[in-house]
Amino acid sequence: MNTIWSKFIQGAKTLYYSRKLRFDDKFANMYKALFNLDKQKKLKILEIGCGSGAFAGALARWYPNAEISAIDRDSEFIRFAKEHERGVTFIEADITALPFADESFDVVISNTVYEHIKPSLFYNAQLRVLKPNGVCLVLSSRKGIAVPPDCYAQNAYEKAFWKKAEQYDNSIEKYSVGKYYLNEAKLPFAMEQNGFKHIKTGYVIVNLTPDNTDISPEFAHAIIDADRYSAIESIESVEQTMSEYFSNQEINEMKRIANNKYDIRIKQYDNNEKQWDTSVSVIMIMRGTK
Ligand SMILES: C[S@@+](CC[C@H](N)C(=O)[O-])C[C@H]1O[C@@H](n2cnc3c(N)ncnc32)[C@H](O)[C@@H]1O
Repeated sequence: MNTIWSKFIQGAKTLYYSRKLRFDDKFANMYKALFNLDKQKKLKILEIGCGSGAFAGALARWYPNAEISAIDRDSEFIRFAKEHERGVTFIEADITALPFADESFDVVISNTVYEHIKPSLFYNAQLRVLKPNGVCLVLSSRKGIAVPPDCYAQNAYEKAFWKKAEQYDNSIEKYSVGKYYLNEAKLPFAMEQNGFKHIKTGYVIVNLTPDNTDISPEFAHAIIDADRYSAIESIESVEQTMSEYFSNQEINEMKRIANNKYDIRIKQYDNNEKQWDTSVSVIMIMRGTK
């Protein structure tokens, strides 16, 4: 039982609902063009570090002929993924000890995972389970644009809460989060140095702007609520991991403030009071073959 990531770093809902947006079917063609997979073949696809499963679920919809497996070492993510996504075999496992035979997959894919694992371990594991000429796809979130609406601004109470929490939080260093981050030029080098060929890079831009006219009300609400889940789970992480330093009253007040902000933003949206807050993700996709 390992729940380090879901407890200390990012909660299941934070990952799930943000990835539901990032991998919404409206963006599928942009991803699929860069994945460049053989649509005729009955592909065996493995997602490594699948988190709470939203991307694997998207792959199951985008490649209905494929057989899709997804692994993560966080037990809570795997439990959540099994409950929320269909058409994928979710397995609790470590990337460095994949429970699969050599040369058993046509495609291995990951999203925002490479930066947490030593490159030699990360790529060797994938080389082993890929068939000859198999495809390795590495997705990585790069610097994007984030302009929140005015109503999300932190008040003095929140600022003091997060300042205090920071003092006791060493989880980023402790669990090597982002320790192996590489820039856009170094990333393909690392893939090549670790045994992959025919490497190509590409980028997908995902624009999440609730006030855009081509965004449906359901999708706009989902954008706002994904931020709500993330805010609430960040507070819950403090509640679970630093309970000796924070009272129930402080935690509840933080949750009330957070919920109130997202309620305000929903109301503004519903009343057509434009805010033009925006979040634009730049997703780098590296494609290499074994
Ligand atoms: C930033 S999260 C990304 C999760 C998911 N790919 C997504 O985009 O929502 C990184 C994930 O890698 C997983 N992870 C990190 N090291 C791992 C390892 N050695 N074996 C399996 N999973 C690992 C974590 O549990 C976490 O779910």
